Amino acid sequence: MAAEFHWNPETYLEQIRAEVPSFDALQAAAIDAIPFPPERVLELGVGTGETARRLLEAYPEAEVTGLDSSPEMLFRARELGIETRLARMEDPLPDGPWDLVIAVLSVNELPADGKRDLLRRVREQSRAVVIADHEADELARVADWADGEVTWRQDDLAVVAARYE
Ligand SMILES: C[S@@+](CC[C@H](N)C(=O)[O-])C[C@H]1O[C@@H](n2cnc3c(N)ncnc32)[C@H](O)[C@@H]1O
Repeated sequence: MAAEFHWNPETYLEQIRAEVPSFDALQAAAIDAIPFPPERVLELGVGTGETARRLLEAYPEAEVTGLDSSPEMLFRARELGIETRLARMEDPLPDGPWDLVIAVLSVNELPADGKRDLLRRVREQSRAVVIADHEADELARVADWADGEVTWRQDDLAVVAARYE
């Protein structure tokens, strides 16, 4: 997925399942990695809301704010009834405190130093973080930077979780 790639919300699910055959297993592993029932949740790269939908099924009391740089993707996520923010994760994050910041298949768009900086900013205002993505070797480094652990790995996919309390 190149940095400039733009997803079409109409074809997103079909495309991502073709590109990431274990997409649904990754989503399930990300939800399983959430360390406690979260109330205030910030999702980075919410896209059409696939992760937010699963999170709300598992934790109906959660209040999710979804951030994404694509207005078209956010328009679809808004149908879930969640708060949305048109913003880039490289820029200052919406004000916390958050119980959980979660990002699924979105931080791979950032270079290594961008991921490290993002984790530093997340830690300043969240009680926990869950990152699920491909590039599993890079995610092992992300786990170190986050002071967390890899909770799930399959081929090139991995989930990292950290708790800060
Ligand atoms: C592959 S989709 C994943 C969407 C959703 N998390 C899921 O699992 O279905 C990646 C999303 O991240 C968004 N994105 C990519 N780079 C971003 C950035 N720098 N800041 C905010 N959103 C970004 C894209 O617009 C896209 O909606």
